[in-house]
Amino acid sequence: MLVYFAMNVLISADDIQDRVRSLAKEIERDHTEGVHLVCVLKGAFIFLSDLARHLPGNTTLDFMAVSSYGTSTKSSGQVQVLKDLGSPIEGRDVLIVEDIVDTGLTLTYLQDILRARSPRHLRTACLLSKPSRRKIDVKVEYVGFSIEDKFVVGYGLDYAEQYRNLPHIAVIGD
Ligand code: IMP
Repeated sequence: MLVYFAMNVLISADDIQDRVRSLAKEIERDHTEGVHLVCVLKGAFIFLSDLARHLPGNTTLDFMAVSSYGTSTKSSGQVQVLKDLGSPIEGRDVLIVEDIVDTGLTLTYLQDILRARSPRHLRTACLLSKPSRRKIDVKVEYVGFSIEDKFVVGYGLDYAEQYRNLPHIAVIGD
């Protein structure tokens, strides 16, 4: 059964594109010897593809999939690796590319397991952050937009696997 929710645009497609371009400039400045992007599936796939196209030629990328157990709109912090990286990251300048940092539990887990593989640098880029929801103080070097405690969809983010394809970020049930 299809359920339709009322949706309001929170961040327009143009504003996202402008911000992604400026984040790429910051990332390029901080990674003069190139960067290895680790895309956290599925939510970060559009952010990754836009970001990667604004970065220079010495950029490589890989994919990882994790699942946070919990209800569809709340994270429980229990994380399972569903798909691991295809190649080692030892000695590399790695950037985790994530859709959103909410409580910070998923990202903390990811940073811990990737740090244990001895990259030269491990930094994180999140398109969105909900600072008021944080349960753990996680370091995120590049944040696209800080938003209020609202459940958002679009630009890769889903509700029950829907709405990932929207070019903007919308608030559902608002
Ligand atoms: P955290 O562990 O609480 O920081 O949750 C991170 C994960 O929860 C993200 O990678 C998303 O998959 C999901 N998530 C948190 N907030 C939202 C939201 O507003 N919309 C869609 N997914 C969200």
